[in-house]
Amino acid sequence: MNRRRKVYEGKAKILYEGTEPGTLIQHFKDDATAFNAKKKDVIEGKGVLNNRISEHIFTNLNAIGVPTHFIRRINMREQLIREVEIIPLEVVVRNVAAGSLSQRLGLDEGTQLPRSIIEFYYKNDELNDPMVSEEHITAFGWAAPPEIDDIMSLAIRINDFMTGLFLGVGIRLVDFKIEFGRLYENDMVRIVLADEISPDSCRLWDIGSDEKLDKDRFRRDMGGLVEAYTEVARRLGIMSENEPIATRGPVLVK
Ligand code: TMP
Repeated sequence: MNRRRKVYEGKAKILYEGTEPGTLIQHFKDDATAFNAKKKDVIEGKGVLNNRISEHIFTNLNAIGVPTHFIRRINMREQLIREVEIIPLEVVVRNVAAGSLSQRLGLDEGTQLPRSIIEFYYKNDELNDPMVSEEHITAFGWAAPPEIDDIMSLAIRINDFMTGLFLGVGIRLVDFKIEFGRLYENDMVRIVLADEISPDSCRLWDIGSDEKLDKDRFRRDMGGLVEAYTEVARRLGIMSENEPIATRGPVLVK
């Protein structure tokens, strides 16, 4: 037996070396953090749910021709992905005012925006992921102008697809955060969707009641996070009505 080589550990995920060259294994932890990890907890079952929900969304995006890093789910907590060079930007798409936009511009949470808005944040924990403009992105060389064009048009396609997907199951897609990477294939390089899409990185409100079905339950100390994520998974048809959430993998008998 060999120990797997850990390539990177983030707040909610670990990346291991993959089984074939050019691949990685993305492992979803149960750790929850907010406000740049000033608030932390372990929420049993979260990683399993995010692995399944993100698999569902990435599989569907691949099927409609949005290029992603996702290859296949391997087990309850892990998926095989293509190794990409992560672009150091958090791309936020907003349909409805909430969170930092509401605070910054004094908009009531829940106000429909006149059109979808794309924002960029520089991925840097020491600086608290500051918001940046295209000018900063190109001047500092984080992405080239044609790459920003690709990112914006993919973000719009992803938003259109996910808005419909969630609307169909009675959920309003308020906003979400995505990340992109450069995939190198022979002498070609292209921009693909990377990281994850899950209730950790989206705001999802029940259409009838406005109940929050996302990580704001943790950020705002509302409780019921696993129940909310399970509800999202059930509505998307990922988990059958009575399927228990297997929170632990097989236990190794020593
Ligand atoms: P915000 O309103 O706090 O800027 O968040 C916008 C969206 O981005 C929301 O769906 C939550 C998500 N998000 C992350 O996934 N990671 C983060 O670090 C932050 C700040 C927001």
